[in-house]
Amino acid sequence: VRHRDAEGDIVPTSETERNAAVFNRPDVVADYRGATGLTAAEAHLFGEFVSPGSDVLDLGVGTGRTTPALSAKARRYVGLDCAEAMVLAGREEHPGIDFRVGDAGDLADFDDDAFDVVVFSFNGLDYLHPVADRRRCLDECRRVLRPHGVLIVSTHHSRMLLPPLPARGGPRRARRFAHWLRLSMSMVWRRASSATFWRGHGYVLDPVRGGLTTFETTPSAFAAEVRGSGFTVVTTVASSYPAMQPRVFVPWFYFCCRADASAQHS
Ligand SMILES: C[S@@+](CC[C@H](N)C(=O)[O-])C[C@H]1O[C@@H](n2cnc3c(N)ncnc32)[C@H](O)[C@@H]1O
Repeated sequence: VRHRDAEGDIVPTSETERNAAVFNRPDVVADYRGATGLTAAEAHLFGEFVSPGSDVLDLGVGTGRTTPALSAKARRYVGLDCAEAMVLAGREEHPGIDFRVGDAGDLADFDDDAFDVVVFSFNGLDYLHPVADRRRCLDECRRVLRPHGVLIVSTHHSRMLLPPLPARGGPRRARRFAHWLRLSMSMVWRRASSATFWRGHGYVLDPVRGGLTTFETTPSAFAAEVRGSGFTVVTTVASSYPAMQPRVFVPWFYFCCRADASAQHS
């Protein structure tokens, strides 16, 4: 049930709706609209696991940053996002593409075994709250995927403690390092004082964009989580890819998860 104010705007009543309200903000939509191209990790995973002629569902598609790369390869491509403003901008940016408003936790619009690939890029999965909705989303991804289909997804890393190291060399390196040091001190304090850091998985209030309730986990906890929905992690890639970084510097990981053939649809 959606609660609306006198102007008809949705009044957020849950963490999920509060997150969706952030993603509907004009400044946030404009930022995503300005972001183009794939990360190196995405290019690597899409190149390896998205075969030409695949049927692709792009969840949390935003304004369609991943759309050109995926739709060019796909036989069928659908982009879905819960933020209507993102979807409207995505339709403007990519005319003729099937963009839909919808909740990644309820894929009832799609049949069982409808897709070869489901993508949930740039940590969109982490904005589903509570854990039961996240689980429902993973179950739905498995249901709409054909056996041996793939889910390509990223999720925040709970044990990240330090911001990525600044580039070495070049002008102003002392100033860049001093900035990194200041950032590191506040980050270590904030992150190490959260229960999620010590437990290894759970929600935090990320101060980005005024506050987003965000799930974080470890690669091993994520592998166990998706196993419960009928997936096996086949590849794990750090967000710093192709650079190798100690895990304390890695803010999120990408995963390619293969749908187990034996998992039953419920
Ligand atoms: C970090 S943005 C990434 C956008 C886009 N994938 C990109 O990489 O530029 C996360 C996106 O997930 C969407 N999202 C969050 N929760 C969702 C849900 N339950 N169902 C569908 N989309 C959701 C948000 O509206 C937002 O557009």
